[in-house]
Amino acid sequence: MAETDQKDAPRATANRSTTPGSDAFKEYISQGWAERPSATTGPRKQAAFAADRRARLSALHPTARLVIPAGPAKQRSNDTDYPYRAHSAFAHLTGWGADTVPGSVLVLEPRTTDAGEADGHDAVLYFREAAGRDSDEFYANPEIGEFWTGPRPTAADVALDLGLATRGLGELEAVLEALDANTLVVREADRAITDRVDALRLLLGADDASDASADAEALATELEERDSDLARDLSELRLVKDAFEIAEMRRAVDATRLGFDDVIADLAEIVAHPRGERLVEGTFDRRARAEGNTVGYDTIAASGPHACILHWTRNDGPVVPGDLILIDAGVELESYYTADITRTLPVSGTFTEVQRRVYEAVREAADAAFAIVRPGIRFREIHAAAMEVIARKTAEWGLLPVTAEEALQPEGGQHRRYMVHGTSHHLGLDVHDCAQARRDLYLDGVLEPGMVFTIEPGLYFQPDDLTVPEEYRGIGVRIEDDVLVTADGCESLSAGIPRTADEVEAWMAGSRG
Ligand code: GLY
Ligand code: MN
Ligand code: MN
Repeated sequence: MAETDQKDAPRATANRSTTPGSDAFKEYISQGWAERPSATTGPRKQAAFAADRRARLSALHPTARLVIPAGPAKQRSNDTDYPYRAHSAFAHLTGWGADTVPGSVLVLEPRTTDAGEADGHDAVLYFREAAGRDSDEFYANPEIGEFWTGPRPTAADVALDLGLATRGLGELEAVLEALDANTLVVREADRAITDRVDALRLLLGADDASDASADAEALATELEERDSDLARDLSELRLVKDAFEIAEMRRAVDATRLGFDDVIADLAEIVAHPRGERLVEGTFDRRARAEGNTVGYDTIAASGPHACILHWTRNDGPVVPGDLILIDAGVELESYYTADITRTLPVSGTFTEVQRRVYEAVREAADAAFAIVRPGIRFREIHAAAMEVIARKTAEWGLLPVTAEEALQPEGGQHRRYMVHGTSHHLGLDVHDCAQARRDLYLDGVLEPGMVFTIEPGLYFQPDDLTVPEEYRGIGVRIEDDVLVTADGCESLSAGIPRTADEVEAWMAGSRG
């Protein structure tokens, strides 16, 4: 999310406020409330996993104070916000997901031994805890008041729930005022906090500089680079999923499968509507809200030639019998783990001969990629395996001006005209997870058990592409599965979702193949 999307405009509600202000009202509303028993019975499952992740981060930055904000609510327009989403690094290190209190901040404070040696970190979660009835917040504050947005947990509840020390957000002030230059911040999470941290670090850096005219710009650049080391490490910590994360990925995929089933069940209604793509989106999103938090990314419901637009999310077209519809969708759970699945369906229930030819070529490419996945291979080999099939098929069909072998050379690439995207990306808390990991560990990285990523080759023949015979034009196919690397190979987490052309036809006929 771009920084400019953050909420920074004043809220204009004062002129229409009807909140009573009389002393009698204030006196009356402040009393007569029952004690609330705590709803928290013990640490949630992910608490121990989050503690282990914090320990690994601590070891990477033994002497630095680390500031990891959840981020503020983001303004959509005037006094309405987008649905809240905490930063993924914050969620990873706290175990807090959809129930995060907006504006929370995790601080890892470095400890030292008596001898002055680095000794790990103390983790403290600062958040705006439940307000008492002695303030007017609960009824008079539409942004955060309990009567408006629901109750917030107490500090004791959150401490128990997440297994973390907690303090009120007000106490963060003292931390921000006293921090030293050895502080790193997740810059993109909360602009106001980043600005505060930057301002103080720049001031301290200028004080420390022997040359009073030390270049502030150079210092700012150096600080940003140090922060980007933190962002990189946070991304790389997530490359291998722990047992909790793997279980969540399975649940996210299972919920996503239900969403695809729902779309197929609604197909008659979808076809009858002039904006059938919107109905596909609505049907899937209904399931995502019912089973999880929301969708992990905007659903792509791309019928007919829209399937050739890779991130078609406008979804305002009809769904026409005889065409294919490409649906790329994933349920994100309350923990924020998301699936990312694509299925391409023949709207009428059966593929035409040319649609099936393209579909099965894509499946062959995906199968070739699946076949090589095991610990020890390099991530980029997955893409190469899929591309061999894509090059061979497009050459066979007479689409390439060169042979498949020539196209596969670094100086070739002609087959990529029909699939310009990559074959795989890591998946987890973010749909494009671990995005700031180094190339050495990502694209050139070696697979390890516990990694989760997509395999998603496709073929897209644009409606105006003169290099392909007319019968191919406007056909777009992608098949996307979510894959877990195991000790000796891989497991497709989405194997339960029909995938071959025959299975897809049987699924649509109501028999699930
Ligand atoms: N849904 C976006 C992607 O497949 O990467
Ligand atoms: Mn994907
Ligand atoms: Mn996708």
